Amino acid sequence: MCGIIGYTGQRPAGQIILDGLRRLEYRGYDSAGIALFDANHELYVARAAGKIDNLISKIEGSLPPAVSGIGHTRWATHGAATDLNAHPHLDPAGRVAVVHNGIIENFEALRRPFVERGLAFSSDTDTEVLAFLIADEIQAGVDLARAVQNVVAQTQGAAAVVAICCDEPGRIVAARVGNAGGIVIGHGDGERFVASDLAALLPHTRRVTFLEPGEVADIRPDEVTYYDTAGHVIAKPVETQPWDPVAAVKGRYKHFMLKEIHEQPDTALDSVRGRYLTAPHRVEVEDLPFTAEQVRDFNRVVLIGMGTSMHAAMVGRHYLERYARIPAEVDNAAEFRYRSPVLDPRTLVISVAQSGETIDTLAAMDEARRAGCPQITICNTPGAQTTRIADATVYMRAGPEIAVASTKTLVGSMIALHALGLHLGRLRGALDAETSRRQVEGALHLPAAIGETLLLEPRVAELAARYAAYEDFLFLGRGLSYPMALEGALKLKEVSYIHAEGYAAGEMKHGPIALIDERMPTVAIALRDEVRDKMRSNIEQVKARRGRVIAIVSADDVSLDGIADDVLRLPEVEPDLSPVLTAVVMQLLSYEIAVERGADVDQPRNLAKTVTVE
Ligand code: AGP
Repeated sequence: MCGIIGYTGQRPAGQIILDGLRRLEYRGYDSAGIALFDANHELYVARAAGKIDNLISKIEGSLPPAVSGIGHTRWATHGAATDLNAHPHLDPAGRVAVVHNGIIENFEALRRPFVERGLAFSSDTDTEVLAFLIADEIQAGVDLARAVQNVVAQTQGAAAVVAICCDEPGRIVAARVGNAGGIVIGHGDGERFVASDLAALLPHTRRVTFLEPGEVADIRPDEVTYYDTAGHVIAKPVETQPWDPVAAVKGRYKHFMLKEIHEQPDTALDSVRGRYLTAPHRVEVEDLPFTAEQVRDFNRVVLIGMGTSMHAAMVGRHYLERYARIPAEVDNAAEFRYRSPVLDPRTLVISVAQSGETIDTLAAMDEARRAGCPQITICNTPGAQTTRIADATVYMRAGPEIAVASTKTLVGSMIALHALGLHLGRLRGALDAETSRRQVEGALHLPAAIGETLLLEPRVAELAARYAAYEDFLFLGRGLSYPMALEGALKLKEVSYIHAEGYAAGEMKHGPIALIDERMPTVAIALRDEVRDKMRSNIEQVKARRGRVIAIVSADDVSLDGIADDVLRLPEVEPDLSPVLTAVVMQLLSYEIAVERGADVDQPRNLAKTVTVE
């Protein structure tokens, strides 16, 4: 949840770290801090509650000309969002500075001996004790890398820890404990970086190394030494990442969310490229290690994810069942892991996670691994932890997504799941040529259809102006549109703080209908499909109770004109792929309403982009 950045080299570290923090702010924005070595090799530390701008105003003009240091942006777990709880944290002598992402579950037990020695902690965090412990080790003559290793070995929980010490300015030690808290090392020319995620490194280098759980990196400007859990030196490869640094900049857009909504034709184009083939029409998903025989042997698919990724999984379930004829079910990853699920080696587990670092999803994948399930993950982040656990990764190909609200990664994951369903269907002999042709042509048309959907923006903005003052919304859909009703409600509450509920429309009569009156508008997804007539009845039921209705309908469908209060007409699209266009129009609606209400669109309160705590 928190963002970490560190630099060691010859350039001004302060500015590099502050720029990195800006790129990481989407991960957490309760407070931020920086630790640098000043000219006397003493630690300069600045911390401020609130966003990075608060930190920048606080340190204005006082940054020392340091060439090494670390920074942190926080999403609070232990202790309120105050200056004192902001990272970096120091030992009592102020010689060791530590930043941390994750939770140290046994921090109280670790603190106790220091309290008994009469030492006082200045924060309520679980992090500060790490600095105390590392300083103790160093005091006893232990080297910094070994000290960090010894200390993380005493911790329970999952975390990423980065430490520096005045004894050796220019040296940074990073450790990854358990699944939470990724650590990536960036390699420059005579300089090295460390960060919690790739986005912070992209302006400087695309040559990176990811730490696995249990590994430690001892980082100096000219070299990095890696240790495994047992403390043995290990060799790790340097990978070159394909992401374009420009992609992580806001450009002409007011918000990252809007930029990312507008990038979706490209996301679709990248997602279909090389996968959806013609003459003959077929779909081939790259790098799947399963033989046709293994695929035919799968007797069940379980899809897991959280939030928007779970909604993508719900759409994916339809694709797996329709095209591959495998019984498929979807589970919320956080529920799945504690339910003692019935799994076996013939159950294919498909996880969806844009970050690839969501703790609930990682834990559910661990559960599946223990049961011997084959696993595929749908991910957007190269090298993320989910990609290391799964047998195969299908990338969302969305590029860096910075806004906290997921948009283009939803589109990337739905297309990846569509492709996967068709690919597995072909291998299982369950797919007929006509379905294959229709779906391939439908997918190849998606980039253009998304582009056309984006032309609805002025109309959506006009609706947003009229609907922004309502405090409650209902979203209804059936079939493939049901997960999109859930997604529409999630997106609206996330970015505009409006209370919104998503329901399968058939459920409405069983309770939610009691909520309907003129103060609660309904967004009804009523596309031309096999459940459209039922949706029309639901809309009539809302109207009969004086509810306002915004209907999302198919191209040229005028049957709800005069019944719904407002109609948004989507472009023509293959019906199986309609959730992609519905998602786009609802993203625009949430965005425009949030802007209308003056909400902080890219960094909504209480949220973080990557959820690495339970
Ligand atoms: C979506 O807008 C949210 N930010 C959130 O629900 C998100 O989808 C969820 O936290 C899962 O993240 P992941 O895809 O990185 O696993």
